[in-house]
Amino acid sequence: MPDHMPDDLSASGRDLRAFTDALRPRHRVVRNVGGEWVLLGHDLVVEAARDDVRFSSAVSRHLQVPNGIDGERHAAYRRALDVFLGADALAPHHAQFRRIAAGLVASLPRDEAVDAVSAIGVRFAVRAQCAWLGWPASLEGRLVDWVAENHVATRSGDRDRTRRVAEEFDAIIQSVLAPRRAAGADAPDDVTTRLMRTTVDGRPLDDPEIVSVLRNWTGGDLGSIAQCVGVLLHHLATHPELQQRLRDGVDDDAFDAVIDEILRIDNPFVSNRRITTCPVDIGGVTLPEGARVKLNWTSANRDEAVFGDPDAFDPARNAPHNLVYGIGRHACPGRLLATLELRIVLRELLAATRSITLDPLQPAERAVAPVGGWAHVRVLLASPAG
Ligand code: HEM
Repeated sequence: MPDHMPDDLSASGRDLRAFTDALRPRHRVVRNVGGEWVLLGHDLVVEAARDDVRFSSAVSRHLQVPNGIDGERHAAYRRALDVFLGADALAPHHAQFRRIAAGLVASLPRDEAVDAVSAIGVRFAVRAQCAWLGWPASLEGRLVDWVAENHVATRSGDRDRTRRVAEEFDAIIQSVLAPRRAAGADAPDDVTTRLMRTTVDGRPLDDPEIVSVLRNWTGGDLGSIAQCVGVLLHHLATHPELQQRLRDGVDDDAFDAVIDEILRIDNPFVSNRRITTCPVDIGGVTLPEGARVKLNWTSANRDEAVFGDPDAFDPARNAPHNLVYGIGRHACPGRLLATLELRIVLRELLAATRSITLDPLQPAERAVAPVGGWAHVRVLLASPAG
């Protein structure tokens, strides 16, 4: 399983954000029922994320490239892989993402409830990702089912179920690798083929490494993008003046700053894990060597000590402290891709509507721990006048 997916079971069945909001003023570090130490304060999360020597990312016995690897080996993977997610590599995909977003938005019903998470977020994320990686559009149904099952399995905490979801994912990945291997030099020149030909320190990536990278890219993309779309549309539907400002036209940088700030306020990508390599004093607590630690980004992004009122929307003021994409050596390499996809789908939605409002008949439902953000946000899309 990608370490990526929020997996904090400490508050099962409760709105995790409200739960950590209530805890944080009294406790900067808490221990959850699973025995993990959860860092809630912004300063502590930053300290641990930056200290990758004492807070190791080697938390899983499974290979996780690059997120489960430390030190120089991790840096070598990042050098080889980050190029896929840089501005130049993404530039050829802009038009493709726009076409996908426009097609999806055109297909959505007007003036009747549409779930922003499943009908917009998941669909867009899956289609955009298939296009980015060069995967066949026929995988859409299987990937959509996988996202839904992955959510359920993550929430259930049931290891067998989680293993089955991971196996299904591996099967999907094998189905895209096998034809490329068979085609050899004639394989299509796309991101997946290029990844298969990537070398790290002069050596080609082996099969488990390729599968792991694709699993992390996909885990990062599908679940998180869909949850982010839910959070963003909920915020815009409940802040019509901001919605109108974006619809009237702001440049890409200003648009991206709005996205980052909305996600700071309600960060659906809840936490990542670390393990201590020696005893560590943090937040007035001494963690033993081998302590399992969670960096709770959602809580850190709402820390009153840094942001004052955590719900006060102020992109310029809060950007330097925003932890939505992490910090330190493991900070998200997919940030540009994520922001690009989110901006494109929101711009298409805003351009094609007069207003986006919440469905008054079906209140939005919070996702329950370990998933952050919203489980369902039913919105009404009003056609432009005339
Ligand atoms: C949609 C919103 C996304 C959010 C909020 C997000 C957030 C994060 C965060 C907080 C981390 C830091 C993990 C840590 O310190 O342990 C991270 C790492 C990572 N993200 Fe994302 N991410 C997103 C999208 C993506 C996308 C689209 C991709 C790639 C296609 C991606 C790939 C990765 C990878 C591979 C890592 C591990 C980096 C490392 O350990 O060096 N993410 N992400």
